[in-house]
Amino acid sequence: MKFFIDTANLDQIREAQDLGIMDGVTTNPSLMAKEGINGKENINRHYVEICNIVDGDISAEVISTDYAGMIAEGNQLAALHENIVVKIPMIKDGIKALRYFSDKGIKTNCTLIFSAGQALLAAKAGATYVSPFIGRLDDISLSGVDLISQIRQIYDNYAYETQILAASIRHPMHIIECAEVGADVVTCPLKPILQLLNHPLTDSGLAQFLSDHAGNK
Ligand code: E4P
Repeated sequence: MKFFIDTANLDQIREAQDLGIMDGVTTNPSLMAKEGINGKENINRHYVEICNIVDGDISAEVISTDYAGMIAEGNQLAALHENIVVKIPMIKDGIKALRYFSDKGIKTNCTLIFSAGQALLAAKAGATYVSPFIGRLDDISLSGVDLISQIRQIYDNYAYETQILAASIRHPMHIIECAEVGADVVTCPLKPILQLLNHPLTDSGLAQFLSDHAGNK
């Protein structure tokens, strides 16, 4: 399973990259705004900075919602760096844009996926990744992990190569459950990734080893 970090914060991206387990980065307009990155030039520069930190797929989201706008924006984003993946919203013109970029050999990430039908359409249109937002489904009392499982089944039935990128991850159990049901990728903030490290028996076991070693000197 691939691990992406879901942030536009360069310090967090560097810290995750230093772990040596990162395969890519996802961002969205809200995450950019949270870092105070505004305006097309600054945003594009920020994407390039991210690409220079992590050697993997870096999702950059279009703001346009019409076909022509998404094509123009997506082509500009893809030209920034070879690792850019054009992130396209799950709307009607988005499906057409996914097909355009897929035919052109440009990687895409179809975002704001909340149903199996949407994931099926995105796969038909040749999306490289689909991003089901599992935390936001949990927020409205629907199971996000069940959706990942359903999409896995459908993609396996027809050998679709579109990768399931589980997004909107809120805690470490989301990561484990996504791994259990066969998500190809999880994208999450740094915190739940670091929380995977923790176990009290590891802490007490290590303390005992170090104490025994010190007594045996
Ligand atoms: C994914 O690409 C999105 O950026 C992200 O995972 C959304 O997460 P949120 O629901 O915590 O905003």
